[in-house]
Amino acid sequence: MSSNTNIQSVLTENRAFAPSAEFVGQAQLNADKLAALHAAAQADHLGFWADLARKEVAWQTPFTTVLDDAEAPNFKWFVDGRTNASVNCLDRHLGARGDQVAIRYEGEQGDTRTYTYKQLHAEVCKTANALKSLGVAKGDRVAIYMPMTADAAIAMLACARIGAIHTVIFGGFSASSIKDRVEDTQAKLLITSDGGRRGGHIVELKRTADDALAQGCATIEKVLMFRRTGHDVPFNPARDVWANALIEQQSTECEPEWVESEHPLFLLYTSGSTGKPKGIQHSTGGYMVGATATSKWVFDLRQGDVFWCTADVGWVTGHSYVVYGPLSAGSTVMMYEGTPMVPDAGRFWKICQDHGVTIFYTAPTAIRALMKAGDQWPGQYDLSKLRLLGSVGEPINPEAWMWYHRVVGKEKLPIVDTWWQTETGTIMISPIPGAIATKPGSCTKPLPGIAVDIVDEGGNRIEGNDQGGYLVVTKPWPSMLRGIWGNPERFVSTYWGQFKDAPAGYATPTGKWTYLAGDGAHRDTDGYYWIMGRTDDVLNVSGHRLGTMEIESALVSHPRVAEAAVVGRPHEVKGESVFAFVICNGERPTGADAEAFTKELREHVAREIGALAKPDDIRFADNLPKTRSGKIMRRLLRSIAKGEVITQDTSTLENPGIVDQLAGKA
Ligand code: PRX
Repeated sequence: MSSNTNIQSVLTENRAFAPSAEFVGQAQLNADKLAALHAAAQADHLGFWADLARKEVAWQTPFTTVLDDAEAPNFKWFVDGRTNASVNCLDRHLGARGDQVAIRYEGEQGDTRTYTYKQLHAEVCKTANALKSLGVAKGDRVAIYMPMTADAAIAMLACARIGAIHTVIFGGFSASSIKDRVEDTQAKLLITSDGGRRGGHIVELKRTADDALAQGCATIEKVLMFRRTGHDVPFNPARDVWANALIEQQSTECEPEWVESEHPLFLLYTSGSTGKPKGIQHSTGGYMVGATATSKWVFDLRQGDVFWCTADVGWVTGHSYVVYGPLSAGSTVMMYEGTPMVPDAGRFWKICQDHGVTIFYTAPTAIRALMKAGDQWPGQYDLSKLRLLGSVGEPINPEAWMWYHRVVGKEKLPIVDTWWQTETGTIMISPIPGAIATKPGSCTKPLPGIAVDIVDEGGNRIEGNDQGGYLVVTKPWPSMLRGIWGNPERFVSTYWGQFKDAPAGYATPTGKWTYLAGDGAHRDTDGYYWIMGRTDDVLNVSGHRLGTMEIESALVSHPRVAEAAVVGRPHEVKGESVFAFVICNGERPTGADAEAFTKELREHVAREIGALAKPDDIRFADNLPKTRSGKIMRRLLRSIAKGEVITQDTSTLENPGIVDQLAGKA
């Protein structure tokens, strides 16, 4: 098994930090309550989730079956129940907290806005009516390509209100990535904005969307465009509609569409080791149960909290912990449009101060960047309202964890390091902050009702083995993915094929099923989990998932490139960076030509996928290291990218002489 993280660095980590008595005293879950939840889930997995589903989600029609496993691994949860995600996030709060702020918003330029639950409800209803006026109905797919504004959250909730299935496309993705997603989902409407602001620049969302539409996207009938930057953008009157004007004309009442529990709430594309990104499908009922329960358990949300998850709504973290989870839990959500470094490295801390943020949830890459900027930045702001910190998206190195703990948390705030994935929908392994001592770099233990384990190649459970193994989930859970859009075979083979009928699997009429997460993990003698990184060809660059094959395809789509191999290289801030080995048609570029072509290729990848996939390093060679059967030796390339001394046996290579050139020595 290959793994990207250095196992030794975490195995020697033995510091533990118990939550303060003050935190425990106020926490909704202390150790005893957590133990009771675990015991209940262990005694009766389905009964546990059924009780929680009744408690945490408002159903229009109650469900009759908790779990239908007749067609496993196509599990169905809360069958016959009907609900609506927007009702859970909005309507049910109107009585008790209609005037409480639901969203506090700050743009990169400092503009702010707030929406109470009543106001947000009205905006969502108006937007839902606008969607209907454009012919969008239940089951239709709507692509959302928006900046990080409250309008993005409103657009998502408006889709949910009428049973349309949204697919949010991160604003950093290119025209051709938009086209792939729109064509795969056959979306009929594209919601976008004239632009957004990030890093002090305007992000040209509408222009990029127009490029995508020029390349294809035949199913798109209308483009609904929000005004954000106000700068000039092309407008095609036959197809484009100004959102603000259309929404203003609508009624603030919109009857929700009560959808079946299994009705898809959204599709979200994510990278795997093969092929194009896959459309991960999430349900309405089960997903809302997971999002609501985990928001309350992990973040201890209560009245008065201002919860800030810094993720963009283009990623699953933004779906579950900016929009659906915290709003369903009735909290106040903070949203910020831009980057942490504009105008300076104090921006995040200033937002925490100005908006009274109580819970702050971000990615290790941001923590490392802010750590690098220096202790003086958090030191300048009043962070006294903060009571809980969180981390997500990639392994957090103990050094970054300790900085977060010491400088931001003033050595007294708990840190929840939450492990989960686009596919799991919601948090799976995480500390419950008032109930468990944390260790820097460990996501601690699975949540109640979540059965995770570590197995070897043969699917056998590994007990207390320092070398770790494959992280798996051995029982279905409500917020689990429901499939890969349009590709049922790939769903089964990617996630369920490897350990089919392994001893630890969940028994169903179709056999035993074990979910393969794609991560390596190790469990220590206290039962704490340590995530070691991906075991497949997926990179995690600044917390963003990228398939090496996607980047390779982007590189070889350049006419001058014959072959490419991409690996990850450890990076101080990004966690991993993209390192590409490139073989050109004709002569190997050298000198000024190599320099110019490197630049060109980086731009080419940005155009094909998005700037986030640009290789940091490109090395040109005459050939790739291949075995005699033609297989590229990726392990060797990873060592070369890291600058390691090559100890691998290269004598089995067809072309051993190439190693020096790949290492940049020849
Ligand atoms: O490798 C794991 C890593 O991110 C992957 C999931 O990426 P994505 O679907 O984009 O979702 C990210 C946000 C949930 C996982 O397979 N990962 C996520 N959280 C952690 C993590 N690795 C270590 N520790 C974490 N807390």
